Amino acid sequence: MRKTLVVTLATVAISVAALAGADGHADPKQIEAAVKARQAHMQLYSFHLATLGGMAKGEIAYDAEAAGSAADALVSLVQLPQGGYWLPGSDNASIENTRALPAIWAADSKVGEAAGAMVEAAMAMQAAAGTDLAALQGAIGAVGEACGGCHKPYRASAN
Ligand code: HEC
Repeated sequence: MRKTLVVTLATVAISVAALAGADGHADPKQIEAAVKARQAHMQLYSFHLATLGGMAKGEIAYDAEAAGSAADALVSLVQLPQGGYWLPGSDNASIENTRALPAIWAADSKVGEAAGAMVEAAMAMQAAAGTDLAALQGAIGAVGEACGGCHKPYRASAN
């Protein structure tokens, strides 16, 4: 199951080429919608990570049910097909209003591996979050690293 997910994510860049037009790029409206959708996906990551991170830091009282449901949400998010959002031609060198770097679509891109690390971290968090605070605290670092491990090479820093 996990391996399948990683492979699926790794082939995202290839499969989205099928959505593109003859020149290899989707039309501008389709691209704009795709960028908004992936940014919304990221906002959902942030929302649920904030719950887990807040509990890990003691800023939010630990609640096993709320922690478990935030972790479930992260796992659901990593399992959503994302191919439609990451269209070729939607990088920050080609269009405005995105921080996605062209490296995502480069031939030697390791974005699939970065996505795979996110899958692993989310699943480990799902196993830990509802157990107790110590288990949640033990799993939170890997989730943050998985976010940063993709943002560093593949997301432009904020202006
Ligand atoms: C596989 C790569 C990858 C992973 C994993 C990843 N991100 Fe992102 N994230 C990106 C990219 C690329 C962008 C820029 C998207 C754009 O602007 O089109 C981004 C943008 C964002 C944004 C800004 C969204 C907006 O509204 O512009 C937030 C917030 C964010 N990520 C949070 C997270 C969090 C939290 C995690 C981990 C739980 C995470 N991301 C994991 C690649 C990733």
